[in-house]
Amino acid sequence: MRTRLMVGFLIASVIAGGNAMAQTTKPAYDEANSPLTGAPKDPSPAWSIAAGGRMYDNWWMALGVRKPVGAHPAYPASSEIKGEATFRCKECHGWDYRGRDGEYATGKHATDIKGIRGAAGRTPTDIATMLRAAPHGYTPQMIADADLMRLALFVSRGQHDVRRIIDARKGEIRGNAANGRGIFQTTCATCHGYDGRLLNWGTKEEPEYVGTAVEISAAEVLHKIRNGHPGAAMVNLRAFSLETAADVLAYAKSLPTK
Ligand code: HEC
Ligand code: HEC
Repeated sequence: MRTRLMVGFLIASVIAGGNAMAQTTKPAYDEANSPLTGAPKDPSPAWSIAAGGRMYDNWWMALGVRKPVGAHPAYPASSEIKGEATFRCKECHGWDYRGRDGEYATGKHATDIKGIRGAAGRTPTDIATMLRAAPHGYTPQMIADADLMRLALFVSRGQHDVRRIIDARKGEIRGNAANGRGIFQTTCATCHGYDGRLLNWGTKEEPEYVGTAVEISAAEVLHKIRNGHPGAAMVNLRAFSLETAADVLAYAKSLPTK
């Protein structure tokens, strides 16, 4: 009861943009000026949702906390991914939030676990409470209350319907690439270069650039455009519309893949 009340208080203050005062564990995204794990003193909904989105991607990288040990007990042993990666929300529920009904229906990430689309609009308090319990079992030592509320806020209010933007069958992005070109060249290029090849997170032999990432999973790139990349000083477009992010994605699709 007490925990529920506290969680309720926290979400109220996260949404209201106030300071979270009561918490069982110190959040990693705590008032500090670092753009990596710091949090603003007066967090906007856009900031909180994007912070939660980066946690959905990889919470320990986003929070700068210790990575989990072993494999998540709810991850099917027969599936291909092993170790700490099985604790990532995206590993069971997908970049498109659609789990077994989406991109992860087949292939090495397939687990036959449902997506999180059905939880959109549910109260963040209920989502946070669910994430503490089985089968999830995320403890306050892993993710502190205030951080969990941001993740829950993302699940509740930060998801998009990927099918509105990405036509997987036709391999098309519904976005205005001409508008996206302007945003990419003035914003993303600062770090990724005009052709998206300034940063390489693959290897020398098998490089991975922005264009390559879109080829591998447009849904992943859309998620990162809207929320940023965990543990990296990357901008995110959460304060802008889904359509704006889709425009950037449409342009990014035209960039070189190698
Ligand atoms: C190892 C696999 C696994 C991981 C990792 C995982 N989940 Fe889940 N999740 C599940 C399973 C299985 C269910 C379905 C539980 C049920 O229906 O009883 C579920 C259900 C959910 C639901 C409810 C969906 C609905 O429509 O009712 C949400 C929301 C959710 N998970 C969010 C998350 C978030 C956020 C994370 C990351 C902190 C996460 N999950 C990590 C396996 C996982
Ligand atoms: C301030 C610098 C900066 C800006 C601006 C920036 N990024 Fe990034 N981005 C990064 C860094 C750093 C990484 C992490 C690269 C790594 O893992 O080596 C990254 C990672 C990525 C990744 C995925 C990496 C992966 O591991 O899959 C994508 C895709 C991406 N950025 C796209 C974009 C797009 C599109 C924009 C514009 C909306 C953008 N970035 C703006 C710095 C930036």
